[in-house]
Amino acid sequence: MLSPLAPTPTMTEQEVESYRDRFAAKLSQTVPGRKEIVVAEARGCTLKTAEGRLYLDMTSGIAVANVGHCHPAVVEAIQQQAARYCHVNVYGRFAVPEQVEIVERITSVAGPGLDVAYLTSTGTEATEAALKLARKYTGRPKFVAFTRSFHGRTFGSLSVSWREEWRKPFEPLLPGVTFVDYNDLEAAAAAIDDQTAAVIVEPIQGEGGIRIPDADFLPGLRGLCDEAGALLIVDEVQGGMGRSGKWFAHQHFDVNPDIITMAKALGGGLPLGAVISRADIFATFVDPPLSHLTTMGGNPVACAAGIAAFDTILNEGLLEHATNTGAYLLERLESVRSQFPDLVIDVRGKGLWCAFELSVDAQPVANALQDRGVLVGSVLNSSGTIRVTPPLVISPAEIDVFIGTLRTVLAGMEAATL
Ligand SMILES: Cc1ncc(COP(=O)(O)O)c(C=O)c1O
Repeated sequence: MLSPLAPTPTMTEQEVESYRDRFAAKLSQTVPGRKEIVVAEARGCTLKTAEGRLYLDMTSGIAVANVGHCHPAVVEAIQQQAARYCHVNVYGRFAVPEQVEIVERITSVAGPGLDVAYLTSTGTEATEAALKLARKYTGRPKFVAFTRSFHGRTFGSLSVSWREEWRKPFEPLLPGVTFVDYNDLEAAAAAIDDQTAAVIVEPIQGEGGIRIPDADFLPGLRGLCDEAGALLIVDEVQGGMGRSGKWFAHQHFDVNPDIITMAKALGGGLPLGAVISRADIFATFVDPPLSHLTTMGGNPVACAAGIAAFDTILNEGLLEHATNTGAYLLERLESVRSQFPDLVIDVRGKGLWCAFELSVDAQPVANALQDRGVLVGSVLNSSGTIRVTPPLVISPAEIDVFIGTLRTVLAGMEAATL
């Protein structure tokens, strides 16, 4: 095992400050503001700053570090693979064993017929590939997506992502995209027609605020797609790799999609994404050959890390752990809601994919938690929501630390408004 992190500085105060200054000067950022945390190390559920301050990470780098930061099995796999080869590629000429191993694993836990995968580096690229695949396979132009959805920032993925202020400045985007209310089957039925290539949906909405649909929503979409001859794309970029207590979040519902996209936790902390589908659907990318390509997708070191992360989830029983610890986290969050009913107005979650909804802006609460050593995040498409997505290895004792700190922060806010 790797040793626990010691709260000792790794840089002098001047060095830390210099990195803050140079970061602000040299890194093009789309989130304004000076960066307080200069990262030194991360392990398990703990992140250490260059000054030696320790934080409890309740974000997992936005649902990436599912097996915890620097899991020894992942670190070893990366080191071994990096020493063998990092990247070799000639379009279409090599069989890369690490790619085979990761794809065999993820397709083994996907639904019937979902036997083949195309590897990318990111979730956005997985969305792009899925949209192109659906268009090419069906020969149809249109897509149906949902309110509060998020699928990425490139032109195609942005076209099916809901928030208008981020879409408008980049128009024209893909034509023929209709947004309908999430969880509204009637609205979906009205939007899907014989020109619809695919419906793209998150099984539980991540950036929308960890919103869990009714049990009949995804099966209903499946039925509507079947009737119209459209494909059902399920975006598991945030929900896959055990986050919800199952390998894929849609497996909580009675549905088998045509296409699954995944990324984030797939690479165990390195960039790796995938599109999983049926062999007959993927066949359209070979006609003509090279219909879709990426140089770095399925990078062998990322695949090796992904294999180790996948095996760790299995070997350490992390699906069950996420289910049980997630239930404990939700129960604790509910008790916080009972204590502060005016501030905490909703609690949602599945496994360790959780959130609570505030009656006030989420950012000051996230900042106050950070000041007290706990990292949580807001979400893109729901302003009062705080996302709680710790590594799946989190212990009940660590959850208690988070809950205790949250109570302190909320009590302070309550006192301030009296
Ligand atoms: C559901 C979903 N799809 C796609 C993406 C885009 O993934 P990436 O940031 O890896 O490009 C995200 C990112 O947050 C996501 O949450």
